[in-house]
Amino acid sequence: MLFPEGVAIDGKTGEVTPSTSRYSKKLSDLRGFFHDPKALESKIAQEGDATVYEVIDYRHEESDLAFGTTIMWPGKVGEEYYLTRGHFHVRRECGEAYYTQSGAGLLLLESREGETRTVDMKPGVCTFIPPDWAHRSINTGPEKLIFTWFCATDAGHEYGEIQKRGMRKLVIDQDGKSVLADNPNYAG
Ligand code: F6R
Ligand code: ZN
Repeated sequence: MLFPEGVAIDGKTGEVTPSTSRYSKKLSDLRGFFHDPKALESKIAQEGDATVYEVIDYRHEESDLAFGTTIMWPGKVGEEYYLTRGHFHVRRECGEAYYTQSGAGLLLLESREGETRTVDMKPGVCTFIPPDWAHRSINTGPEKLIFTWFCATDAGHEYGEIQKRGMRKLVIDQDGKSVLADNPNYAG
């Protein structure tokens, strides 16, 4: 049986207490997601295999609702800002909410029909992710980007399609500004 409890979420560090699981993704785990593979390999060779993001969960299989945080380090691979893999939910009727607590970023969304939308991620903004929109977070700022997400426990992650074909748009640094550009490698 589950009992109510207060879960502390530190908006500055992203720590969740108590949490049920966590994982992190390094640059080498994101091969195939950044659009410039040469820039990725030379960054790993020169600077080491840095952490790009960490996800901390509060999740009980007996409940329909799960939440947690994603902590994204600042950085770029070539001109492209650090990103998450991006996914659709396996259960297509499941939406999600992302509440940004610190840092600055962009949520890049793509519908099944191929429409692209972006929403600015900044402290105090809760982004509504409608069902069946692929979503990828991008840290466009100089600090860590930290957000709390809430979704159905069994929503599931479908990574395959985005990994195979990429997203139609990418977010790059152009003269110090974040700009949405066409993905030259898009294979849809
Ligand atoms: C859950 C969700 C987030 C992401 C996390 C990492 O549905 O959207 O918890 O899973 O931000 O991103 P991905 O999973 O795309 O690597
Ligand atoms: Zn999601």
